[in-house]
Amino acid sequence: MNTTPTKDVFPEVPEKPILYDGLYQHTDKDVEMYLKLTEGHDTILECGIGTGRLAIPWAKAGKSVYGIDYSASMLEEFKEKLTNFPSEISESIEMQKADMRSFDLGRKFSFVCIPFASFVYLLTPEDQKSCLRALRQHVAEGGTIVIDLPTWREATEEHWLSNDGIMRLEKEYLDQYSGKTKQMWTTTKFDPSTQLLRQNRYYRTYDVSGLLEEEEVVLWKSRFFLFGEFKLLLEACGLRIEKLYGDFHFGPFDKDSDVMVAVIKPV
Ligand SMILES: C[S@@+](CC[C@H](N)C(=O)[O-])C[C@H]1O[C@@H](n2cnc3c(N)ncnc32)[C@H](O)[C@@H]1O
Repeated sequence: MNTTPTKDVFPEVPEKPILYDGLYQHTDKDVEMYLKLTEGHDTILECGIGTGRLAIPWAKAGKSVYGIDYSASMLEEFKEKLTNFPSEISESIEMQKADMRSFDLGRKFSFVCIPFASFVYLLTPEDQKSCLRALRQHVAEGGTIVIDLPTWREATEEHWLSNDGIMRLEKEYLDQYSGKTKQMWTTTKFDPSTQLLRQNRYYRTYDVSGLLEEEEVVLWKSRFFLFGEFKLLLEACGLRIEKLYGDFHFGPFDKDSDVMVAVIKPV
């Protein structure tokens, strides 16, 4: 049973797909792992498909991918990108605008996933449970669900929780769209009572002489939790963890892990 999602949503990407793409264009730390995890699965449902960072490698590996995303502009950006690929790639990817907190595609998939930490954009336990129930409803008999999430340790190391008011340079990169140098700076506020992180992301574009040309600011919201709460959420939704990894190379999950990669089955 799906409930009505809260009004609060992840605001950055829907309005700024180009900023997202520029920032993560070379991020591929999880791609090999997801290719391995989907071996033997013929149909993939990716929730929060974005601009196809994972869907394209899957399609190249001969998989059929169905993606949902609630951002029309992310999907438009992805469709535009796909026009540069041969038809055997573009035709293996279907996508639809839908909210992962409440959706019914009327079909099941052998592999269902929420990669790239996108579950953190569900900002309340109610939204998280509603989403997990929808995932359960879409996984075929004998199928698998995979969700990866940052750990509390990672959030601490990245200073997301420190509330020290310091503005930090997160990333400098050559933007593929403008050909210019961009920097992404952040300031964060974390509220331990709600586990909500609000991060101002300042995207700064510099001209060839190194002078600041433009600054765009977006508010990025996410909710962090410890492994125990995640496990209880899954159990409350009729799901169990079959395997848990602590990195993108199938290493063990322990106190030093930056990420939790949960391979999940319906109970
Ligand atoms: C961090 S991006 C990940 C994109 C892609 N999976 C990847 O690995 O590059 C998160 C994506 O989730 C989408 N998203 C966030 N909340 C969503 C929701 N409630 N329902 C569907 N998509 C959502 C965003 O629009 C965005 O495209």
